[in-house]
Amino acid sequence: MLKPGVLHRRAVGEIVHRFERKGLKIIALKMIRMNKTMAETHYAEHVGKKFYQELVDYTCSGPVVAMILEAESAISKVRRLIGPTNVNDSQPGTIRGDFAASTTLNIVHASDSTAAAEREIALFFKPEELCLWDDGNHSWF
Ligand code: CMP
Repeated sequence: MLKPGVLHRRAVGEIVHRFERKGLKIIALKMIRMNKTMAETHYAEHVGKKFYQELVDYTCSGPVVAMILEAESAISKVRRLIGPTNVNDSQPGTIRGDFAASTTLNIVHASDSTAAAEREIALFFKPEELCLWDDGNHSWF
């Protein structure tokens, strides 16, 4: 999920490009405005943490871009591209390393496990919004 800061920075294209350049396949993508209930559901595991309210408020402060990226080991590929949650640990060249100065406002979210991906996909997308496709006879990656 590209958080509102990505829209504010006019960086949707650049960030989506980084995932595509790596060879990740977009199988669903949409822009939405998350409401408080949706943000609280998405971040339920962080209830009670000191950054929780700011995180929910930030997530609802503007549109987000939600996408499903498919690849072998997609979760680890995406997480390496975005860099660690703590922006003080994120290296230049990663998305957070290049775009984020605050850990709470860290620009992007990515599922950290298959179980989280299944839960988050169900929260953001209806089954009919997924578009499965293949590369046919071409092997680009
Ligand atoms: P995200 O990948 O969206 O998942 C949970 C979010 O909580 C995380 O990115 C950060 O935006 C925020 N977060 C996690 N840990 C901290 C922390 N220690 N301090 C501030 N914000 C945090």
